[in-house]
Amino acid sequence: MSADAIPLIRLRGVTKTYGQGALAFQALKGVDLDIAQGDFVAIMGPSGSGKSTAMNTLGCLDRPTTGEYLFKGVPVQGLDRDERARLRRRYFGFVFQGFHLLPRTSAQENVELPLLYRGETTAQRHAAAQKALAAVGLNGWEHHTPAELSGGQQQRVAIARAIVSNPVVLLADEPTGNLDSQRSAEIMQLLWQLNQTQGITVLMVTHEPEMAAYARRIVHFRDGLLDSDRPNTPLPLRGSQGDGHAPALQESVAQEVQ
Ligand SMILES: Nc1ncnc2c1ncn2[C@@H]1O[C@H](COP(=O)(O)OP(=O)(O)OP(=O)(O)O)[C@@H](O)[C@H]1O
Ligand SMILES: [Mg+2]
Repeated sequence: MSADAIPLIRLRGVTKTYGQGALAFQALKGVDLDIAQGDFVAIMGPSGSGKSTAMNTLGCLDRPTTGEYLFKGVPVQGLDRDERARLRRRYFGFVFQGFHLLPRTSAQENVELPLLYRGETTAQRHAAAQKALAAVGLNGWEHHTPAELSGGQQQRVAIARAIVSNPVVLLADEPTGNLDSQRSAEIMQLLWQLNQTQGITVLMVTHEPEMAAYARRIVHFRDGLLDSDRPNTPLPLRGSQGDGHAPALQESVAQEVQ
């Protein structure tokens, strides 16, 4: 197999069982999934179908009970706790539904936090946080605390914190779950831009088809298994009507019949 054929992430037969004995519950029942670098995948499915469990596994926050996880061809199950933590810090950024910001801490300091573990200088941390906050459209808001920011702005800070370390993969579990539809659309535009312009691989759980519409691929879970997996034309690439191809096609057909 050539290097090109190795996906960024490959899951094979991944299961996850919570608890033991009579209380054991199998949340993932054998998941096969390949994720290419630069993809934007929306993960959908009913409550309890295993979406968050899959995300925690994909982000190396949790280990499969059985099955194989290859990151760039490297078996993650062979890594110890510290090695997995290093892999996470180097390659992954996380965004959650509830923002998870430190309350009495400025946007700037919240965003700098992941860099503290890396031993960078204060000047390097400041510069990287400024850049990340600018990338999410929060120039001028650096010194506000979360309480002084709207929900949408708080989620932008959380996204800036997730991208400040230049992750290859951004994992977002219901990132718009606490936002109204206008703020949600803005956050989705931002995630799409990060994917489109910076090539960040985005894996996002959502219950809402309007948010999944921004992804390049939509995967459905059901009862701990992958139910469907299909490509999607991201909303920003579609025309003003339909999927962007339909109007052009209709026009050409109209010309032909005239
Ligand atoms: N730590 C845990 N201990 C025991 N069972 C768990 C644990 N985490 C999840 N589960 C169970 O595993 C199943 C899958 O949970 P998961 O959180 O992955 O679902 P989900 O698809 O993300 O649902 P939702 O849309 O409600 O967030 C559920 O039945 C849940 O109760
Ligand atoms: Mg969940």
